[in-house]
Amino acid sequence: MNPRESASTVSPGNVDELLPLAARRSFLAVLLGAGTVSVGALLAVPLVRFVLHPLLRVTTPASWSDVGKADELASAALPVKKLITVEQRDGWRKIVSEKAVYVIKDPSGQLGVLSSVCPHLGCSVTWHGEKNQFLCPCHGGLFAAGGDLLGGPPPRGMDRLESRVEDGVLKVHYEYFRQLVPHKEVIA
Ligand code: FES
Repeated sequence: MNPRESASTVSPGNVDELLPLAARRSFLAVLLGAGTVSVGALLAVPLVRFVLHPLLRVTTPASWSDVGKADELASAALPVKKLITVEQRDGWRKIVSEKAVYVIKDPSGQLGVLSSVCPHLGCSVTWHGEKNQFLCPCHGGLFAAGGDLLGGPPPRGMDRLESRVEDGVLKVHYEYFRQLVPHKEVIA
């Protein structure tokens, strides 16, 4: 058919019919596009959250660390210094560090664990068996065998860490505490 003839067959009445059809098609196209974008966005949310989750998190609390066999520690002359491995996660990064702690025995015979970090300014406290005391070499802080403050500038005694015996192994939950304050306050 001749295009001129074809064009000439579009009467004013036909134009009225064609326009609503075109409008309907474009409306459906917009609707389809909007639906696709919405579904895509909904599916992307969990993925984005998964990717960003470690980056938005602050450093995680340390996991529980093994200190040693409970029966061996219970029969040792305490306090005894132990090095523990502490694992934390900072974003995607896994931080593994070694910390010194002291295993003590309560008057009841129960094992406990003390942080070796001085609550004054964070120096490492050491056990002096001949004096039966802990001593901080930085400013002369003195602590009893159970960690109580005996003298010097520290505002409180040595910090006791949460511990438990599991399958015969003494475990400790390592934490960091605020220095220079009289009460134990966890900061990490
Ligand atoms: S840091 Fe221990 S007494 Fe000052």
